[in-house]
Amino acid sequence: MTQKSTLTHPGHLMIGQLTATELVERFGTPLYVMDEKMIRNQMQLFKRVFVHPKLASEVIYASKAFLTLAMCNLVEQEGLSLDVVSGGELYTAYKAGFPMERIYFHGNNKSAQELAMAIELGCGTIVLDNPFELQLLLPLLDKPQRVLLRVNPGIDAHTHEYIATTKHDSKFGLSTADPATLTLIQQLSDEPLIRFMGLHAHIGSQIFEADSYRKEAETLLRFIRNHQLNIVELNLGGGFGIAYTEQDHPLTLSEFLPSLLDHIADQIEALKLNPIKIMIEPGRSIVANAGTTLYTIATTKTTVNGKNYVFVDGSMADHIRTALYGAHYTAVVANRIDVTPAVHYTVTGKACESGDIIIKDAYLPACQSGDILAVLSTGAYHYTMSSNYNRLPRPAVVFVSDNEARIVVRRETYEDLIRNDLGV
Ligand SMILES: Cc1ncc(COP(=O)(O)O)c(C=O)c1O
Repeated sequence: MTQKSTLTHPGHLMIGQLTATELVERFGTPLYVMDEKMIRNQMQLFKRVFVHPKLASEVIYASKAFLTLAMCNLVEQEGLSLDVVSGGELYTAYKAGFPMERIYFHGNNKSAQELAMAIELGCGTIVLDNPFELQLLLPLLDKPQRVLLRVNPGIDAHTHEYIATTKHDSKFGLSTADPATLTLIQQLSDEPLIRFMGLHAHIGSQIFEADSYRKEAETLLRFIRNHQLNIVELNLGGGFGIAYTEQDHPLTLSEFLPSLLDHIADQIEALKLNPIKIMIEPGRSIVANAGTTLYTIATTKTTVNGKNYVFVDGSMADHIRTALYGAHYTAVVANRIDVTPAVHYTVTGKACESGDIIIKDAYLPACQSGDILAVLSTGAYHYTMSSNYNRLPRPAVVFVSDNEARIVVRRETYEDLIRNDLGV
């Protein structure tokens, strides 16, 4: 569905050239809105700045952050590769017609069925996580298959424990400190149908420290040199942080990424290594700021102890990151953004959990029934982490481009909720 608006509305939150109010009137709430231009701009930025005269490089979008058929089309059009971690993500890319040779299949516990599907569809690269996956993969091969191995360089990227991934006891990959890693690398190099290209690591998410990435690269390059590994690709993962609130100070990617590649090129030269292609896998930093969740405010409540709640028509089912790891967000009253904040609210939803908190402390104008609450920067790990807890239908997803809006995922209905139920 596409409609056009040429109106501007002072006091209203704009997404593209449309007001949040207009989007709510057309599509209802709760609603995930993605600014398509912002997504494209971020992808173009990564492609533009992650280049170096002495190094080949590649940008791979980590689809776990946000994936739909329409998103696959954007990634394809902007010329990025795609990281998937499950049969479902792979299937989505396949159905969108995404070029299979540009797919990297990650995950720490790929099933035999998922690997068979990947091979049958012609998935470009399998990123193995452990020796068991190799045993599952080998019988499926009748022609050479590109493979990377996920390793842990043991870097502490100072992020939340649930999104830190490369301490040596992580569930992901094999530690560079573990002799078994070298045994597996040797086996991969010896297997006739495995084209062992190199290593992959991902040191966590929502990272603000340039140094963590430098250390990651240095550790892996030294690992390659110390063990004389014949490696031509090195994937450093994603994790580039974004600003959810004014307290967040992300890296400036246009400066940081070229400087990281400079550093890597120097290291490769100093260690006298053969040329290595460097890859990164951003997810959050491509889509998070492009997303806004719109809710309708029902009412407010002040407890006897003076705590203020504002009730919205969504819940932790469409916004889990606050409950999951205490993430912080910024919200505005979208139909009155020019009104000065006056009240500290806990924003909560409809789910039957005291932990159903969307924002713990949102400083907002006094909220009224019917106001629209916009929670900002919800483009990553919201739609993809949503659930039907309490049998709440998932919101629709709308793409806005300038003054056009189109539904890319329709709102779930009650019929959708019982579609797979049997036994009546
Ligand atoms: C292997 C891998 N690559 C890339 C990403 C993307 O991370 P981010 O969305 O923080 O950029 C993740 C996130 O968990 C990941 O596990």
